[in-house]
Amino acid sequence: MTTTSMTTPAATGSRPMVKAEGVHKSFGTAHILKGIDLEVAPREVFCLIGPSGSGKSTFLRCINHLEKINAGRLSVDGELVGYRQRGDKLYELKDSEVARKRRDIGMVFQRFNLFPHMTALENVMEAPVQVRGEAKASARARAERLLDRVGLADRAGNYPSQLSGGQQQRVAIARALAMEPKLMLFDEPTSALDPELVGDVLDVMRGLAEDGMTMIVVTHEMGFAREVGDALVFMDDGVVVESGHPRDVLTNPQHERTKSFLSKVL
Ligand SMILES: Nc1ncnc2c1ncn2[C@@H]1O[C@H](COP(=O)(O)OP(=O)(O)O)[C@@H](O)[C@H]1O
Ligand SMILES: [Mg+2]
Repeated sequence: MTTTSMTTPAATGSRPMVKAEGVHKSFGTAHILKGIDLEVAPREVFCLIGPSGSGKSTFLRCINHLEKINAGRLSVDGELVGYRQRGDKLYELKDSEVARKRRDIGMVFQRFNLFPHMTALENVMEAPVQVRGEAKASARARAERLLDRVGLADRAGNYPSQLSGGQQQRVAIARALAMEPKLMLFDEPTSALDPELVGDVLDVMRGLAEDGMTMIVVTHEMGFAREVGDALVFMDDGVVVESGHPRDVLTNPQHERTKSFLSKVL
């Protein structure tokens, strides 16, 4: 059989930013991820939806080197997560190497986890200065730019306790961006927010998407997924049940489980 019309990622020069092949993850005897296959292209906004407990956060944590997978292959920007391949052998990376790779991936959680004793500006400056050893002046200049970008230029001197949840979440996004990641992971970034604060956070994420950031977004905001998402995966019980363009999956789900889930959240 010849497949003349197929162009491989390598042939087009755009290898996937994230590639999961048969990824399995267990905690003890609990089998959580049961063979996840998916690809996230560079500059793509990839939305991940599914019921609570289906393994969405676990999958993000595997991408971010916070959990080790038990079987399959998982790579970010062409490099295996947690391993180095030489020939056909895999070697586990040292903790220091894992930490270095983790810096390329920004993560924003449901809870903002800002340092309470630091101002917004100091929160955003912290990692570049402490982890990367950057000079304070340039870290400060970037932090000011990033706070401006998330609409909080006038809040640079505020402590987290002086900011709303939505503002804190935007500082958390700026803080993740300060390390100049090539991939951003969002784990239900607006779920803990009062409804009237959700829009500002989604606007910041929409801006990031327009600037070409590769993003995986676990969310229950179906409007965001439909308008901003390039791809959408519905996950249930550790497997990808259905995937496609967000508009197609959301308006015309093919599987009963997807239909049932969407009928509860839409
Ligand atoms: N560190 C852990 N140890 C044991 N079980 C875990 C751990 N992390 C997650 N789980 C379990 O894995 C399942 C999937 O969790 P999670 O990935 O958080 O789902 P989701 O984000 O889709 O709600 C849940 O049953 C959860 O209890
Ligand atoms: Mg979760």
